[in-house]
Amino acid sequence: MMLGHSQLAGLGPRARVLDEAFVGAVLDGLSMAQKTLPCRYFYDARGSDLFEQITELEEYYPMRTEASILKAHAAALMGGATSDSVLVEFGSGSSRKTEFLLAELPPGAAYVPIDVSPDALAQARVRLARRYPALDIRPVVGDFSDAVRFPQGLRGRPRVGFFPGSTIGNLHRPDAAKLLSRFKTLLGGSGRLIIGVDLKKDKTILENAYNDRLGVTAEFNLNLLARINREIEPAFDLEAFTHTALYNDLEGRIEMHLVSQLDQAFEIRGRPFRMRAGESIHTENSYKYAASEFQALAERAGWSPASVRTDPRGLFSVHVLT
Ligand SMILES: C[S@@+](CC[C@H](N)C(=O)[O-])C[C@H]1O[C@@H](n2cnc3c(N)ncnc32)[C@H](O)[C@@H]1O
Repeated sequence: MMLGHSQLAGLGPRARVLDEAFVGAVLDGLSMAQKTLPCRYFYDARGSDLFEQITELEEYYPMRTEASILKAHAAALMGGATSDSVLVEFGSGSSRKTEFLLAELPPGAAYVPIDVSPDALAQARVRLARRYPALDIRPVVGDFSDAVRFPQGLRGRPRVGFFPGSTIGNLHRPDAAKLLSRFKTLLGGSGRLIIGVDLKKDKTILENAYNDRLGVTAEFNLNLLARINREIEPAFDLEAFTHTALYNDLEGRIEMHLVSQLDQAFEIRGRPFRMRAGESIHTENSYKYAASEFQALAERAGWSPASVRTDPRGLFSVHVLT
């Protein structure tokens, strides 16, 4: 599925910039002492599809738990929304959980999903346009940590931000605070932010969520190397890597790695790289926060914590910041 011409206008140069940014990020990350690859590049069409499969796994509690909180509290979370309101979602993916909030928006309100994945945006747009014909949907393909070009015609209208999926947990804490303060600028002085944050909990529940028995998370992680093979050049033998995800107690985060199974060498854009058996490429962090810990971080970023809601088992939290 494709975006219409009006949505695609102006995206060509941007898409090329992102491609070169991908090559640069891969070369920089693999040149570090601890090899890394930025997790935002998980989400090409295949990665977005695999992420959707992950959200349905028995072990993966975050999606359904966050959805249950949003469903139970949608009216209160969206209280005060008017036909002028604009719901801005950062890293919207499939926008499935967003539907609980969209259902509370009066006709005439607008929805601006922002994501690096054009495929995920295009699919969500088609589904939502059918389901909410009175909703003004304006997808933006882009990196939410860059300056986002806000759709024309919606400027000056009150904004409510939505940042679900504990995507904030993918950032180191100081970067998370910087991103929250960037969102504050984008949402404006009267803006609010509804944000989903995964809670600290028993290590076994956490590690099982990222090491599912069907191996979908492993495939999602390995897809990053497959994407490099597809989009840059065929550099990696996927069989030579295995997925691991472990909770780092000291840092309060799940770390995902791809571990080399043998001594190996590969080349990308003429640059040579070597890996020893057992050496890893660090592909993702997922920081976990106690509710009070996250509120303190939000305050450092200039927000006032207004409320926090959790599920009965205390697995996940949804905060409102004003
Ligand atoms: C963990 S998924 C969450 C998807 C959805 N919001 C949910 O809660 O189910 C993260 C989403 O954020 C997008 N994403 C990650 N980093 C991004 C960035 N820097 N800018 C824009 N989108 C980003 C990905 O493409 C993906 O769709």
